[in-house]
Amino acid sequence: MPRKRLGAGVLVLGGAALLLASLRGAEKAQWPELEGYEQMKVPADNPMTLAKVGLGKQLYYDQRLSGDGTRSCYSCHLKEKGLTDGLATAVGAYQVKLPRSSPTLWNIGYHAEFYWDGRSKSLEAQAKAAWSGGNMGAAGKDGKPSPEEVCARLDNIEGYREQFQEVFGSGCTPDNVAKALAAFMRTIVSEKSAWSRFRAGDQKALRAAARRGWEIFQGKGRCVNCHAGLLLTDQQYHNAGIGWDAAKNEFADPGRSNATKAERDKGAFKTPTLLDISKSAPYFHNGSVATLEEAVELMLRGGIDNPWLDTANLRPPVELTAAEKADLLAFLRWLDVQYTIKEPKLPK
Ligand code: HEC
Ligand code: HEC
Repeated sequence: MPRKRLGAGVLVLGGAALLLASLRGAEKAQWPELEGYEQMKVPADNPMTLAKVGLGKQLYYDQRLSGDGTRSCYSCHLKEKGLTDGLATAVGAYQVKLPRSSPTLWNIGYHAEFYWDGRSKSLEAQAKAAWSGGNMGAAGKDGKPSPEEVCARLDNIEGYREQFQEVFGSGCTPDNVAKALAAFMRTIVSEKSAWSRFRAGDQKALRAAARRGWEIFQGKGRCVNCHAGLLLTDQQYHNAGIGWDAAKNEFADPGRSNATKAERDKGAFKTPTLLDISKSAPYFHNGSVATLEEAVELMLRGGIDNPWLDTANLRPPVELTAAEKADLLAFLRWLDVQYTIKEPKLPK
């Protein structure tokens, strides 16, 4: 710190400049980041500020954002469930049954495309879609309020009205809500996990069984073909055959091909990170597998046969002894993350 090198007289004179510099430093230092990873890309038109992240966090936790007042974003991305909801497939506002399971949001700000099929290209767009779609139900039709109408409600709450003014210089608008939500989500970073410490060079973070499991994960298990790098995902789309209906000869959910319209992307889904995986059962995009043991068995077998299976990365099947499987599971269970974000106080 420069303070140490300055004499007392200089301190008085330089006080204002120092204060400014330290304020700027404070703003910057606030954002959690993954050590040793590329910097998170933040859109130029939505810079991070303390006030904006604070507002986004309240909106994220507030059920009043949903059409029927029964769901917040957090409802389906719960800390005790590894930022998912414990259901096979999610149930949105107005009790609408959704076709897919809630994915974890760890390190989501580092992703380039969103949803299991990657159809959304920015966190801002995704936030808006979740809000006006089945998840939060602010659809603006069939008797459900539109995002503008929900905004009018929020503007009637003094604490929100003041914050929107402070952050955006205007009242609540759907764009502002999406920006604030996205800014908050960029702070959901697993900076304090044992996995991050290990990858940053702390060998002691990983004990014997989990270490052997890691060797399998990156060695003969071939898991890193797709669950790659610090994020444990290559952010690519792979067909592991989940949801393949052999009787009908088709996928219940077309997955990535829904976004690209390309035949080759049938049944492919974004590789999920495996952080906090012990808490996020049931597994896969359709929640079709109840336990971590079964999910791992399925991946070791090389997925489920279908015409679009990613055979290059999944075949031949991986043969492991019972002891090796136990080690692999020990590694996966060691990928837990502590969620240190505190529930915010919501404006009345
Ligand atoms: C009813 C449960 C539910 C609610 C409420 C909900 N989500 Fe989700 N979320 C899901 C499901 C299910 C998906 C996956 C949908 C898909 O892939 O089509 C998802 C996906 C996401 C993703 C993409 C993750 C990835 O890996 O690409 C983000 C980001 C996200 N939600 C944020 C939010 C925000 C912000 C809100 C509030 C505006 C919200 N969610 C409300 C269930 C929910
Ligand atoms: C071909 C790339 C690929 C390889 C190799 C791979 N996975 Fe996966 N994994 C995926 C994809 C894609 C999904 C999501 C599939 C879906 O839901 O349709 C997934 C899902 C999972 C899930 C469930 C995650 C969740 O949030 O529901 C677990 C657990 C898992 N993989 C573990 C492993 C392990 C352990 C290995 C190594 C033995 C492995 N995977 C190898 C691509 C891969």
